[in-house]
Amino acid sequence: MCGIVGYIGKKNSASKFVLSGLQSLEYRGYDSAGIALLSKKPQVIKQVGRVEGLANQVTDEKADSHIGIGHTRWATHGSPTMLNAHPHYNTDQTVFVVHNGIIENYQELRERLVSEGYSFVSETDTEVVPHLIDFYLRKHKNFFTAFGLAIKDLEGAYAIAAIYDKEPETIYVARLSSPLVIGVGKDEHFIASDATALMDRTKKVIYLDDYEIAAITSDNVSVHNIKEAVEVKRAAEELDYDHEKAELGDYPHFMLKEIHEAPQTIQAAIRGRVRADTNTIKLGGLEAVSQQLKYIDRIVIVACGTSFYAGLVGEYLIEEIAGIPVEVQLASEFKYRKEPFSRSTALIAISQSGETADTIAAIKKVENYGVLTLGVVNAVGSTIARITDAGVYCHAGHEQSVASTKAFIAQVTVLTEIALHLSEGRTPLYKPVLQELLELPDKAKQVLENAPEIEKLAKKYSSYRDFLYLGRNYAYPCALEGSLKLKELSYIHAEGYAAGEMKHGPLAMIDKDFPTFAIACDSELMEKTISNIQEIKARKGPVLAIATEGNKKVSQHADDVIYVPSTLEQLQPLLVCIVLQLFAYYVAVEKGYNVDRPRNLAKSVTVE
Ligand code: AGP
Repeated sequence: MCGIVGYIGKKNSASKFVLSGLQSLEYRGYDSAGIALLSKKPQVIKQVGRVEGLANQVTDEKADSHIGIGHTRWATHGSPTMLNAHPHYNTDQTVFVVHNGIIENYQELRERLVSEGYSFVSETDTEVVPHLIDFYLRKHKNFFTAFGLAIKDLEGAYAIAAIYDKEPETIYVARLSSPLVIGVGKDEHFIASDATALMDRTKKVIYLDDYEIAAITSDNVSVHNIKEAVEVKRAAEELDYDHEKAELGDYPHFMLKEIHEAPQTIQAAIRGRVRADTNTIKLGGLEAVSQQLKYIDRIVIVACGTSFYAGLVGEYLIEEIAGIPVEVQLASEFKYRKEPFSRSTALIAISQSGETADTIAAIKKVENYGVLTLGVVNAVGSTIARITDAGVYCHAGHEQSVASTKAFIAQVTVLTEIALHLSEGRTPLYKPVLQELLELPDKAKQVLENAPEIEKLAKKYSSYRDFLYLGRNYAYPCALEGSLKLKELSYIHAEGYAAGEMKHGPLAMIDKDFPTFAIACDSELMEKTISNIQEIKARKGPVLAIATEGNKKVSQHADDVIYVPSTLEQLQPLLVCIVLQLFAYYVAVEKGYNVDRPRNLAKSVTVE
């Protein structure tokens, strides 16, 4: 939820790298930002608001340093103020710390430090760290020892970077349940919350694991596991990323670019996996667990937000195509449930970032039950990708916009492949779904060609204060996801509902000022959704519907209709959700909001 960045090298380019790195991590949070540099004397510069304001303060003479750390904040403890902005430091201003995560025992640590004579200036949990390091430094004189002891006292989740003005050649880092990556350069090293911040400087990275700390100089990285008190030999890996693709190109926003990447996203998720000639599915990431998969008789899907709604689509797909019972649970609820598991249960964790704390906690909960854990993840090398037994990458490429769009499309594509794989070709739907899936990139292109029509309707409906989204069966998760997109981008109150539930309450809200987005594509249940539209129209509710090209009935009842190409019901979510993503995007643009950085949100929720 916050971004941390650091640089140590032979060149005096610490401030330049840290500031540019923070700008690329702003999607993680942008309430405040700060930088600490060790040059002739320590410098700490902070700013409430965006990184741009911070960069304007770092003038040339201040910028001259070969070591620095920085932070862009999504507030968890304490409002976004200068005093709460990171970096935080000890009273003598010799130890400087940035932190991403939550220190759950900070109150207890704070009381202990106050009783030792320390005083605090901020409301944050993070400020206990520099004082704790100072406390141990006074006893042990060795900074690395003091740093390790302080880190061992922390409970919760953290990615921490610290610098000490008496050792201006070393950055110290620590990681527990919050991502931290070390970039390896020539006579220089970079650190960041995720590889976005450093990938245009190096493709060689070292990932820290939980309970590991490292002392990083310009030419060496020394990793230690503080739980086992051993040094760890960790080789650098090659980053799998094409930075150019992440650039905005001639789109006004990353979100629109990423929505328009849907056809190639589907293509990337099926490439090498869906074999038309032999009607087979090959998921290399599941081969290692193929024997175990044969005995799975129950699947639990855990995820958050948009990934949860992809999981709901996956539930219908796996149950109908593979005949395996599936239960989809919000990761934040799953981790506290007291439910029985059997060894023939598999858990599928879906996550774009692979760093969502609730989803990670859900996976860790089942670790001791012998449950097979699979990841459906987009970020290669992320925590979820590394702690699950096996999985299938989404290959959607880097998703910059806070609102997840192409990653959702990739997730649903991968879940379709998993459903086909689990069915082992035994069910009647196997061949038709496999063959039709190959047609989806072109059909997604056709949906995108209708963007101007969707933009026009978005403008027409943008002034409403409420919205009801309705869908049945495969369209029900689409209604939920469409309403989340509208909420998180335009701040309009939108509710997704199973269409069959409308008469059990929501209909009471309907009047001429309360529009409904009805998803009524061709299916055996379409007539029932048309009845819902009629019931809404009888109460003067405006209705915007999605229907299948060539359908003549829906337009007889809805005020406006957006058409999508005909496809199997099982694959309709891939086309319907592109429409819903575009609609939410254009409404937010019409309202003048920051589409890629919606207020109060962050791209990767790495705190519980
Ligand atoms: C998506 O539009 C939202 N920004 C959010 O709900 C997101 O899907 C959720 O936080 C889960 O993130 P993940 O897929 O990276 O785990």
